[in-house]
Amino acid sequence: MVTATRPEQQVKIGPTKLLINNEWVNSVSGRKFETINPSTGEVICDVAEADAADVDKAVIAARMAFNSGEWRQMSATRRGGLLYKLADLIEQNIDELAQLETLDNGKPLQNSYGDLGLVIACYRYYAGWADKVQGKTIPLNGPYFCYTRHEPVGVVGQIIPWNFPLLMQAWKLGPALATGNTVVMKTAEQTPLSALRVGELIIEAGFPPGVVNLLSGYGPTAGAAIANHMDIDKLAFTGSTEVGHLVMEAAAKSNLKRVSLELGGKSPNIVFADADLDAAIEGSHQALFFNQGQCCCAGSRLFVEERCYDEFVAKSVERAQRRVVGDPFDSNTEQGPQVDKEQFDKVIGYIESGMREGARMLCGGHRLGDRGFFIQPTVFTDVKDYMKIAQEEIFGPVMSIIKFKDINEVIERANNTMYGLAAAVWTQDISKAHTIANNVRAGTVWVNCFDVFDAAAPFGGFKQSGIGRELGEYGLEHYTEIKTVTIKL
Ligand code: NAI
Ligand code: MG
Repeated sequence: MVTATRPEQQVKIGPTKLLINNEWVNSVSGRKFETINPSTGEVICDVAEADAADVDKAVIAARMAFNSGEWRQMSATRRGGLLYKLADLIEQNIDELAQLETLDNGKPLQNSYGDLGLVIACYRYYAGWADKVQGKTIPLNGPYFCYTRHEPVGVVGQIIPWNFPLLMQAWKLGPALATGNTVVMKTAEQTPLSALRVGELIIEAGFPPGVVNLLSGYGPTAGAAIANHMDIDKLAFTGSTEVGHLVMEAAAKSNLKRVSLELGGKSPNIVFADADLDAAIEGSHQALFFNQGQCCCAGSRLFVEERCYDEFVAKSVERAQRRVVGDPFDSNTEQGPQVDKEQFDKVIGYIESGMREGARMLCGGHRLGDRGFFIQPTVFTDVKDYMKIAQEEIFGPVMSIIKFKDINEVIERANNTMYGLAAAVWTQDISKAHTIANNVRAGTVWVNCFDVFDAAAPFGGFKQSGIGRELGEYGLEHYTEIKTVTIKL
């Protein structure tokens, strides 16, 4: 199937069924749901809708694949080889995947290519780990030989969001497959298409049946069935903190499946007056507006030192007004639509709340155009810590600039949140940079940069931003069980 977004833009749609046991199947119920192009609000196509019965089928396939010799006894080097092959196939099909991602999610095509660079690097990074996962030998008191084995956890349930569909799929599949687990993944209902196309490439790469099962469907049905399932050994979830609470509770009430969570954020981005101000202004602009503001780590509490506040605000507003919003397939576009009507309404609601609570809106604030879910880049100043726009995750193109006086004060205020995902500081003073890095309670601190991601660098949250780390060597920890073997000599 091919769909037209603009006359000259034809995007090839890949599979739309469920992937279970390396076969494309309809859902047990026969139901389908529509996936929408957020640039137009129009339906792209129907996609098979999984619910609990399909989760059961996928778990059976994943369990059989886990127990069978083919995957478990495959040499680790060959397992890594399959991941390398998958990375190569994604690279060969990068144009098609980038277009599909932009069509379904609305992110500018340039950004889809950027995401895909990280996707390919992530699969290659974890491919390299496959044959380097090793235990220890441990000296015991007495005539014993003791060693540990790092074994796969088993069948892993993975639930991913819509803001970086392909990248979240890679962050989840990479470490799970490198360590020999089998997977039942549910993608977000807003963005099912690109992950399914990767499913085709997974089959082409030669992964055995049942190792990766891909389900499209909704959270309260298919997602909840995964979280509650008695035969899933581990759950990895990325999404809202609200649903993070729900899935952890479900895991606790069912079979105590292991849980790792990557949740929301309200990340402080701290600019000192001694910073390279132009770099800080552009960096802070990207930190907030990148991906339509739909980033868990968005620099959404922008603390600016009093001495440079007025200049910073004026130039930030000017930059936001220059931001190019429009057709995500246009190569000049910096910002596309919000992913769906629900997110659009949520963001507009926060803009109204900011005005009600007395923040000063210096630009934006409205819908752009009359179709699709576009929002003008919006900047608020005179934002106070207690306001809703300074406390809750907006997940949209809304910048809140907050004034501060000194470093101890800003550390305290930066930490005054239930979140702890990321933080950044802009300064030329090495001592200030380290003081912020050491004292802000967040999983990542960027100094004079933002959103620098690398498959080798762990990412995840303190406090209610999550549990555990993804990426890097640390990202393997959630996907293995440690077995201690003790032998009497
Ligand atoms: P969500 O947390 O509802 O959705 C994320 C994933 O969880 C999706 O696959 C969804 O189908 C699934 N899900 C939803 N309810 C579930 C349930 N009861 N059991 C199991 N799985 C369930 O997030 P949503 O509604 O898309 O967005 C709401 C807000 O969450 C956003 O405005 C944003 O603030 C935040 N969010 C944060 C993300 C992050 O990267 N940390 C990603 C997406 C959203
Ligand atoms: Mg939701």
